[in-house]
Amino acid sequence: MDSVVKSVPVQDTGRRVPTVWGNVPQRNKNFTGREGLLADLRARITAETRDVTAVLPHALQGLGGVGKTHLAIEYAHRFQTDYDLVWWVPADQPSLVRSTLATLAPRLGLADAAPLRVDDAVTQVLDALRRGEPYRRWLLIFDNAEQPELIRPSIPHGPGHVIVTSRNRSWLSHVDTIEVNVFDRRESLEFLTRRVEDISRADADELADALGDLPLALEQAGALQAETGMDAQEYLELLREAGGRLLAENAPADYSRPVAAAWSLSVSKLQEQAPFALELLRRCAFFSPEPISMEILDRGKFILKSEFGAAMQDRLVVSRAVRELGRYALARLDTTNKTLQVHRLVQKFIRDDLPAEDQRRVRDRGAPATRRGGPGRGGGGQLAAVQPAAAAHRALRGLPGPAATGASADRTRRAVPLPDR
Ligand SMILES: Nc1ncnc2c1ncn2[C@@H]1O[C@H](COP(=O)(O)OP(=O)(O)O)[C@@H](O)[C@H]1O
Ligand SMILES: [Mg+2]
Repeated sequence: MDSVVKSVPVQDTGRRVPTVWGNVPQRNKNFTGREGLLADLRARITAETRDVTAVLPHALQGLGGVGKTHLAIEYAHRFQTDYDLVWWVPADQPSLVRSTLATLAPRLGLADAAPLRVDDAVTQVLDALRRGEPYRRWLLIFDNAEQPELIRPSIPHGPGHVIVTSRNRSWLSHVDTIEVNVFDRRESLEFLTRRVEDISRADADELADALGDLPLALEQAGALQAETGMDAQEYLELLREAGGRLLAENAPADYSRPVAAAWSLSVSKLQEQAPFALELLRRCAFFSPEPISMEILDRGKFILKSEFGAAMQDRLVVSRAVRELGRYALARLDTTNKTLQVHRLVQKFIRDDLPAEDQRRVRDRGAPATRRGGPGRGGGGQLAAVQPAAAAHRALRGLPGPAATGASADRTRRAVPLPDR
């Protein structure tokens, strides 16, 4: 993924955009509410003392799907004119944190001569940030930092600002923490009214209630209604039915049953409308939850001999599938950074939804965990937040082709052969 370097036009207002702007996800055009949280975050960040050694990171902490990442994205866009450098660091895996930091080296005027080793690059980057050279007004966002003890050594100190998003409550004891919760009802209503044309207040209220005001689930429901033109009562009815079907199964630990029901409706629709997109989604569910570079997906066509691989050859088919996933809000397509991201909870749901046999085989092949590589190869910025090729290959290979599936809609467990073995 290329990080975008903006030139620095002095605008009419005299305010400038950041000189360095790396990997920040696209702004959510449906971003709703959160004014209190944004104001609080801004106040805490700007209240910091002049003593730069005392500057603390600010953590946005809360359960999955409540909107921590989107709050951080909105902050970065809204306050971008206050910064010279904004760098987004996917922090689910410590090794990815280090390689993403390393890609900053050339932007800080380091590593001009010879490519640096990752560790050296990180040391130099942290030092340059601490000294505020060449930029004092920097913002680094560590997204999804679930392992504080492994991530903290990579967090810079200095005159800039650091935001961390995490589900892990142990950040509370280390850094200034703002707890993020589900939408309040007013926010849910505002969001649904914006997302679903003509929804009545009563219907929006009922829907928000059914989905526990979880932004991730409301987005799901909103997308399906907007895409299919289904009305809210019809959707609620289907949601109840799907919830009833799920009752027979083990209660999932990571998400509530109504939320799982909402996903199962979207998955059924996708199965009907765009089965190839569903196959792609299933493979993406075995990547780590970082944004997946489209380039890596594209490489799938070289390694797959199955029917799925043949379909991957056709760029048009792949790009249509990616768009379908975006339309049904099962993944977020970022056209600036050229990535596709599937939320961790959606990934978990999709994996749980697969027949046990396939889950086992894919797990035995090893799900992607770490990535290798560092700066100096592939143009630096491209390395940020992409999956390791080998792991991506495993994820792409590890699932049955489209012809072998078809069970998801009714969640029938069915063992299917793996054509790529
Ligand atoms: N303030 C918001 N306005 C509109 N949609 C939101 C908002 N916050 C979250 N969402 C939706 O919910 C989804 C999950 O939010 P995200 O920030 O990824 O959750 P978290 O990081 O807490 O797991 C997003 O993809 C987006 O669709
Ligand atoms: Mg997140």
